[in-house]
Amino acid sequence: MGTVLIVYASRAEETKGIAELIGEGIRLSGHEVCLKRANEIKNEEDLKGYDGYAFGSATYHGEMITSMKQILFMAERAELKGKPGGAFGAYGWSGEAQKRLFDTMHHIYGMQMVSGPLMLKASWVEGGIEDAQQYGTSIAALI
Ligand SMILES: Cc1cc2nc3c(=O)[nH]c(=O)nc-3n(C[C@H](O)[C@H](O)[C@H](O)COP(=O)(O)O)c2cc1C
Repeated sequence: MGTVLIVYASRAEETKGIAELIGEGIRLSGHEVCLKRANEIKNEEDLKGYDGYAFGSATYHGEMITSMKQILFMAERAELKGKPGGAFGAYGWSGEAQKRLFDTMHHIYGMQMVSGPLMLKASWVEGGIEDAQQYGTSIAALI
């Protein structure tokens, strides 16, 4: 059994809801979850040592939320190479945050990523609950 760290940045709490559903999928797969809001992570030590990672941010003004951007700098020193990973978040129309998170985890940290980012307009849109839980299952399957 492993533990997956889920870190999210959310303003209107849609991305938080998606994070919780991803966590459910991971738990249903028999693994543990540590769920943190981005501003709870203070340095790279807070990121080290997990068996998998999911980073999430909503998109605002074509970008991820600043607290998640700061985590991406800490994560460079968190020994994430080869670790299972996924990226997610709520968006309205363009979803830059989710794509940027996913690409950074893949290209910069060298993580073993699931097939693509999970982008939902909200957790409650049709099929959203199942999609988010399934995304958690996919991350867990890489452990
Ligand atoms: C001021 C503002 C700017 C936004 N800018 C974008 C944007 O550039 N691209 C996009 O896809 N969605 C954009 N959105 C939509 C949000 O990403 C969407 O409402 C999302 O559900 C918010 O997630 P959260 O509840 O986790 O904060 C914007 C929303 C607001 C209120």
